[in-house]
Amino acid sequence: MQDAAAFASAYERNRAHLEPWEPIRPEGFYTEAGQRSQLEQFVEGRRQGRVERWVFDSGDGEIYGSITLSNIELGIFLNARMGYWVDASLNGRGLATAAVSGVCEYGHRRWNLHRVEAGTNVENHASQRVLAKCGFQEIGLSRSHLFINGKWSDSKQFYRILHTDPLPLD
Ligand SMILES: CC(C)(COP(=O)(O)OP(=O)(O)OC[C@H]1O[C@@H](n2cnc3c(N)ncnc32)[C@H](O)[C@@H]1OP(=O)(O)O)[C@@H](O)C(=O)NCCC(=O)NCCS
Repeated sequence: MQDAAAFASAYERNRAHLEPWEPIRPEGFYTEAGQRSQLEQFVEGRRQGRVERWVFDSGDGEIYGSITLSNIELGIFLNARMGYWVDASLNGRGLATAAVSGVCEYGHRRWNLHRVEAGTNVENHASQRVLAKCGFQEIGLSRSHLFINGKWSDSKQFYRILHTDPLPLD
């Protein structure tokens, strides 16, 4: 919850950078109170074991992006969805690539995840490149997939298998 102000300032700074790839946000989203409310939902999801998030942090109190595992599903699926963004001022330094690889490794170790999925807007070539560098395979094109920046947008879906170890019997 202490990150609310830093998230608000990071999203404000990166409005134009994120706009093509995200839903249109109400003005309140860019305020500390708005981010507090987002974090409350996140904390509840985390308490239920459904989500986990990491931030890019240089120790100056600001946030420079985040990476999230959501829809964490155990049982015989052992699957999660991944989403991420990196501050515009720090793009092209391999941060997203390092984070995606690191979080896949962590998901394997912490939950024994077998599979991670990610979707990118069909025009988001930088994100598709990140996933390719991290060993993700393309599933295919999902038309009219998400309501992004004011319109239903096509998405390329990807997955990575983290391991194929058999599951123990119950
Ligand atoms: C996509 C994003 C996460 C990439 O972060 P990053 O830290 O710059 O990524 P990396 O530096 O690890 O790798 C970027 C790769 O994309 C490549 N790239 C950048 N722009 C590109 C473009 N327009 N077309 C093709 N490749 C591109 C880079 O050259 C690099 O590949 P390389 O290492 O082979 O040269 C960042 O730009 C971002 O936050 N964008 C806005 C939000 C977003 O798109 N999130 C993902 C939603 S699925």
